Amino acid sequence: MSPEPIQNEISFYDSVGGRRVIERVHRIFYNRVYADPWLKQFFGHIGQEIIESQQNAFMTQAFGGPQLYCGAFPIPAHKHMYITEELFLHRHALLKKALEEAGVPKAYIDKWLMIDGSFRKGIVKLAKENCQKRHLADEILDFRNPTGVTERAESRK
Ligand code: HEM
Repeated sequence: MSPEPIQNEISFYDSVGGRRVIERVHRIFYNRVYADPWLKQFFGHIGQEIIESQQNAFMTQAFGGPQLYCGAFPIPAHKHMYITEELFLHRHALLKKALEEAGVPKAYIDKWLMIDGSFRKGIVKLAKENCQKRHLADEILDFRNPTGVTERAESRK
């Protein structure tokens, strides 16, 4: 009888530095998001600490770490937001800057952006008509870019 294979693969969660690094990146990232004239409008109703803790738990899980996330998943959570490709890329560029500022090595930045970008398909909408209210009293969130200036990462990974 052949022995069982040993499960010794290291998760991305562990390689990148675990919870400590995820928290550091998200603190810098959401500082940028809450200061950004376009993105901050989507977050007017929710405190930065709440969104950071949701994102920390969600990405921990997405990176192969402890399964602690108990919030909504990206498609239902964003169905009422008109998130265009341009807005998504703008957010992606802010995330890239946050990763660089936090000192995450280049190879891990690429992988982090790739995992984050894998949620793009369910979140980006081609038209406002594709948005749906989550409940009857909900509002469709559709904010213009007040400055017309967008951040651009070299590529969406
Ligand atoms: C431009 C793009 C995005 C915008 C404007 C945006 C905006 C928001 C806002 C406003 C909330 C709070 C919703 C609420 O509770 O009322 C939220 C929640 C959340 N977002 Fe995003 N988001 C974007 C992209 C993403 C991406 C790419 C991911 C995944 C990698 C993500 C993951 C989450 C998660 C996990 C929550 C918490 C959901 C919950 O528990 O209710 N978001 N987002």
